[in-house]
Amino acid sequence: MPPMVGPNAIARLIFVNMAGAGACNITSDKAPNQKASTVPEVVFRTQDVTKVYQTGAVKVFALAGVDLELYAGEMAVLLGPSGSGKSTLLNILGGLDHATSGRVWFRETELTDMPDRGLTKYRRDHVGFVFQFYNLVPSLTARENVQLVTDVSPDPMPAEEALAQVGLGSRMDHFPSEMSGGEQQRVAIARAIAKRPEILLCDEPTGALDSSTGVQVLEVLQDINERFGTTTVIITHNAEIQRMAHRVIQFQDGRISSVSTNDERLAPAEIVW
Ligand SMILES: Nc1ncnc2c1ncn2[C@@H]1O[C@H](COP(=O)(O)OP(=O)(O)OP(=O)(O)O)[C@@H](O)[C@H]1O
Ligand SMILES: [Mg+2]
Repeated sequence: MPPMVGPNAIARLIFVNMAGAGACNITSDKAPNQKASTVPEVVFRTQDVTKVYQTGAVKVFALAGVDLELYAGEMAVLLGPSGSGKSTLLNILGGLDHATSGRVWFRETELTDMPDRGLTKYRRDHVGFVFQFYNLVPSLTARENVQLVTDVSPDPMPAEEALAQVGLGSRMDHFPSEMSGGEQQRVAIARAIAKRPEILLCDEPTGALDSSTGVQVLEVLQDINERFGTTTVIITHNAEIQRMAHRVIQFQDGRISSVSTNDERLAPAEIVW
């Protein structure tokens, strides 16, 4: 498979890995981000992935041949027009869907034809999801929403700790209806990170938020990425958000049209939209 980034970009990524990324699960006893490596550690690899939807006689190529590598500890932003295939790819990486053709690996494990049971376990053990509309259970408090995940995870952090990580330590017993949109999204992030996932997949996490609330959510995502080395993928329609990423992956018509590396990243608070 051809490399998706040139040698200079790889060199920069190695630096990134040493300085602020590296792969690790979220653990409270291990200092994150200490791992230096000579080559970027590949977490996801896709090879010529397609996804075709057929409605009657009409075929839609949601993905039309995607080759991509995602690296341990990086924050990657996926940009592209509506319908260009971003969510489709994220769902395949997250084990929510299968590709029509091509191959997909999570580290050494091939997800391509994994049966649903295997994908369920993969998702449970490794992946946190954050969606645009927080998907909280309205009749449960913030703490109880997070406990839905911690109750079934092999090595979770306490719900209280997860909520403290996103700055909601004092709002644990509030119901979603008693919280702002940004706070609800932070509960959703707490729920996603409580199982200490290696991967955080975010589909338009700020899409329903105003700018200042969106910045707070991005700060939480960046903080988790930096402190825990969680490989983070963020889909957005907001081109400004790409400036906080290590790498920016641009989609067009079901394909990746460009991959670029940010030499300098902005802090979320410096992003204005
Ligand atoms: N279940 C489905 N059945 C038929 N077509 C689908 C289905 N899901 C997605 N598609 C089509 O696949 C294409 C890619 O969709 P996808 O949701 O991945 O785009 P996207 O880049 O995430 O767009 P947006 O930015 O609007 O969320 C679109 O043309 C969409 O209509
Ligand atoms: Mg989408």
